[in-house]
Amino acid sequence: MVDVRKDFKGRSFLAIKDFTKEEFFALIDFAAELKAAKKAGVPHRYCEGKSIALLFEKPSTRTRCAFAVSAVDLGAHPEYLGASEIQLGKKESVEDTAKVLGRMFDGIEFRGFSQKAVEQLAEFSGVPVWNGLTDQWHPTQMLADFLTVKENFGRLEGITFTYCGDGRNNMANSLLVSGAKAGMNIRIAAPESLHPEPWVIELAENIAAQEGGGSVLVTADESEAVADADVIYTDVWVSMGEEDKFAERIELLTPYQVNAELMAKTGKNNTIFLHCLPAFHDIETIYGKDVNAKFGLDCMEVTDEVFRSSASKVFDEAENRLHTIKAVIAATLGEF
Ligand code: CP
Repeated sequence: MVDVRKDFKGRSFLAIKDFTKEEFFALIDFAAELKAAKKAGVPHRYCEGKSIALLFEKPSTRTRCAFAVSAVDLGAHPEYLGASEIQLGKKESVEDTAKVLGRMFDGIEFRGFSQKAVEQLAEFSGVPVWNGLTDQWHPTQMLADFLTVKENFGRLEGITFTYCGDGRNNMANSLLVSGAKAGMNIRIAAPESLHPEPWVIELAENIAAQEGGGSVLVTADESEAVADADVIYTDVWVSMGEEDKFAERIELLTPYQVNAELMAKTGKNNTIFLHCLPAFHDIETIYGKDVNAKFGLDCMEVTDEVFRSSASKVFDEAENRLHTIKAVIAATLGEF
């Protein structure tokens, strides 16, 4: 039996694969507890007097705000360090930076390109390090997504969860492995050239067989992938740093767009739609207007109709970033 108030103390949170199924579920349940406490106005200042560094090499709304608000709710001080504000990897190695930050802060969040960088921060800082997204994994997003699924269905095991779109990005990697760990029927629908790398599929299959108990499917056939799905998930077709790939991705991924027709192919009337956000569902953004002018599209990975439908739980999911990130900080750093 996992004790969330003891068993995570001092540990880093770098990828879901590093945790057992029971630990993964314990963090989700702890987040639900902290969510209820916040809604009821019950104080939970488990990190009183601690200081945490928030390192962001890439932009963020949800992750940054969730870490900052969590820190304050827990009684800790958050210090934001943006890409242009520190020397990380430019004039000072990640190892040296980690050693300095570890002398000053009690915990470090990192969002950036390289998984190796977040691993080095954890290795050399001597304090818990939390992965706020790298090119390989997005583990805090998984906790929020799976808490949202549990809120809607009351369970995770046995849920059929289908991700449609770019199967090679950090979200597809993370959902494949996390879904396998949770005992879901986890499916990726993507064109063959954008299937997850073989090592990620193999990792998910091994986890499903040895620990999760569910199934793993990676296919180019979107109709097969969404049949009986309880959850349909998508992400942007062009990730941060890939802005030259719009034309190629639109051609490849249009058959995987989440629209009313695709949602109907689940054959269920209680399927929910999730998206980590931000989403390309209209042209109320500079990117949206640019894509509209160049390609004539008024949405990309999800239609505005589905995004705004009652099936869409994307803003519950975004709120859950706060409660789940708070659970990670408290479990690894808190005094209970
Ligand atoms: N989903 C997500 O990570 O959002 P941000 O990029 O706004 O942090």
